[in-house]
Amino acid sequence: MEYLKIIDKRFDSFKFNKIFKHCPVYSIILYNKHIVANFYHTINFNSLKMKKLIFLVILFVTLTTYAQKTPNLVPTPPMGWNSWNKFGCDVNEKLIREMADAFVVNGFKDAGYEYIVIDDCWQIARDSKGKIVADSTRFPSGIKALADYIHSKGLKFGIYSCAGIRTCQERPGSNGYEVIDANTYAEWGVDYLKYDWCNSAGIDPVKAYTDMSNALSKSGRPIVFSMCEWGNSRPFTWAQNVGNLWRTTGDIQDCWDCKKDWGGMGWTTILDMQVGLEKYAGPGHWNDPDMLEVGNGNMKYNEYIAHFSFWCMLASPLMAGNDIRNMNDSTKNILLNKDAIAVNQDKLGIQGKKIYDDGDFEIWSKPLDHGDFAVIFFNRNEKKYDFPALWEKVGFKGSKKVFDIWQHKMIGTTKEMKKVSIEGHSVLFFYLKN
Ligand code: GLA
Repeated sequence: MEYLKIIDKRFDSFKFNKIFKHCPVYSIILYNKHIVANFYHTINFNSLKMKKLIFLVILFVTLTTYAQKTPNLVPTPPMGWNSWNKFGCDVNEKLIREMADAFVVNGFKDAGYEYIVIDDCWQIARDSKGKIVADSTRFPSGIKALADYIHSKGLKFGIYSCAGIRTCQERPGSNGYEVIDANTYAEWGVDYLKYDWCNSAGIDPVKAYTDMSNALSKSGRPIVFSMCEWGNSRPFTWAQNVGNLWRTTGDIQDCWDCKKDWGGMGWTTILDMQVGLEKYAGPGHWNDPDMLEVGNGNMKYNEYIAHFSFWCMLASPLMAGNDIRNMNDSTKNILLNKDAIAVNQDKLGIQGKKIYDDGDFEIWSKPLDHGDFAVIFFNRNEKKYDFPALWEKVGFKGSKKVFDIWQHKMIGTTKEMKKVSIEGHSVLFFYLKN
């Protein structure tokens, strides 16, 4: 008699079923430290074949338990706010508290935004014991008090450091201080660490990020580990068990496609660099094409809509980078579009990918839960054009209802829509439902 009980529905067709068909008596099938299936089987213990199988099962269970060092703290992409894009080094505790207040008052918390992260420049020195010291002029109450305040609002608190000797703004980095820093963050109540890569000449990225990842794991507090290594060593190929998210490019700028000498770039350039990376993302480990520029003032409304739509399509972390205390309605409408956010937060956690490209016109598609799809039709040209809808490229069979995410309404079916008309530098962002 044999009996297989799948506990986690996502694993109905899980390939290990096949392996475990031959396993002995009772096995708990673990994946990412979650029990996903139980397997019962009658066996002849005396056969050599069975002894070998018992050994293999024990080995497998041990390996799967050990391999996932990073707890799955972010089953969907993290959402929050980070100080860097708008405020740079000009951070202080009043600003961060006001941002937490604005999160609640302006509906960000209700929309799912959760982490308030201070980027570079909060730290100023190390004390005689090597403990990191916050700038007491800018943070007179100390970091712990700030974390407590943010927690009192029902939000989570993030901080920044660097794998190099010094941060990008020449503040003390964590190289050689990983354990003491991780323990300090845990003591302060930090929930999220962004970990940069400046002043890292001669440092091995795998070792540096693994050292901090291990230190965080041992700190006794669950802390999301956001790796900011700019994609140099292709962290998506090695960091699945090290970080929860990893930057894939240099720094985003508030522009369509500008390029800075030092490596900063506009969001469409970043978008092009995400092609092919979709296979590396999934629940708990995300590609990070950098924080949002929506609302920072240098792009048009339709360009910010396109930027935000793509960050949702890419299952990217949604870290707002504007002043959320003072926002116009357009900015609010973009950042708080619940249907766009639902695409980003879809529980399958599949990163959308480009499926058609004729130069100016692109189609991107993201499979969603319940057999739904998100689709973006993208016009890169500055002029308005009509394009063929090309639904057959999207990857579903039959007709679906088309919900327009920016018009907030159903607009027909895929069967009826043969072409799409798109303004210059704009997207159409659709949710296709059965
Ligand atoms: C690097 C990072 C940015 C920001 C700055 C802070 O450039 O990529 O996101 O954190 O450092 O100095």
